[in-house]
Amino acid sequence: MADRYGVIGHPVAHSKSPWIHAQFARATGEDIAYEAIDAPPEGFVVAVEAFRAAGGKGLNVTLPYKGEAYRYCAGSTARAAAAQAVNTLLLDRERPFGDNTDGVGLVRDLTVNLGRRLQGAQVLLLGAGGAAQGVLAPLAEAGAAGIVVANRTLARAQALAARVPGAAACGFDALAGRAFDLVVNATSAGLSGELPRLPQGLFRPGALAYDMLYGRDTEFLAMARAAGAATRDGLGMLVEQAAESFLVWRGVRPDTRAVLAALRAG
Ligand code: ATR
Repeated sequence: MADRYGVIGHPVAHSKSPWIHAQFARATGEDIAYEAIDAPPEGFVVAVEAFRAAGGKGLNVTLPYKGEAYRYCAGSTARAAAAQAVNTLLLDRERPFGDNTDGVGLVRDLTVNLGRRLQGAQVLLLGAGGAAQGVLAPLAEAGAAGIVVANRTLARAQALAARVPGAAACGFDALAGRAFDLVVNATSAGLSGELPRLPQGLFRPGALAYDMLYGRDTEFLAMARAAGAATRDGLGMLVEQAAESFLVWRGVRPDTRAVLAALRAG
């Protein structure tokens, strides 16, 4: 019987992960089954335990359970601990173990798929919620010359930046007069069609604006395009974090190019 994996979240019906992992399994010859599990509010641990009791070997965790998944795990990798969030559960051990592949997924999309150099770059990370937490340390470790976390609520930016050496924090107003090579939008503003209240002039010549959301042209990307920046949504990050999870579970890294191209072609 195929080894069982899945993605757990709420809602999860729209998730592309089952399709992505099915492509990875086919391409690598790994015999896995991958399903979507919708866990109702308060129902995360019960759903994970049921999956585990039924022989499930691993789960991807998506909104809103990444923080809860971290607290559920008996142990975790350093990158999950840095994010205080888990997107990859390993359940085929005595006790549940957590990893976080979101940050490496973003860094691989930026550097491998998009050919961007992070070494020496001035980086701006917008937002200080769960999405930002998962990627700040990996972005900083990729060699950015400077990294600023800006958030609508300043205190949250300060709390996040304090966990990563060299990261600075500010509110949106304090960005006036500063410019960056890479601006990553990790706010959820785009989900409600909103745009963080950012000053003009944030983009250096040749800058990339990256929105971690995917499947929609956000107000942030439209604003960045109008300002002359290159733009990209988070679809590549989604595929790359999935490939890294597959590697963690199966010991083989699937090639992501064909899968990403197929998703982009719709
Ligand atoms: P997630 O896990 O998706 O990051 P979250 O923890 O609720 O979700 O965080 C949402 C992030 O988007 C926060 O940084 C939030 O800013 P606040 O900390 O000030 O709430 C940001 N955000 C959401 N809507 C926004 C908007 N319209 N403008 C600017 N920032 C917004």
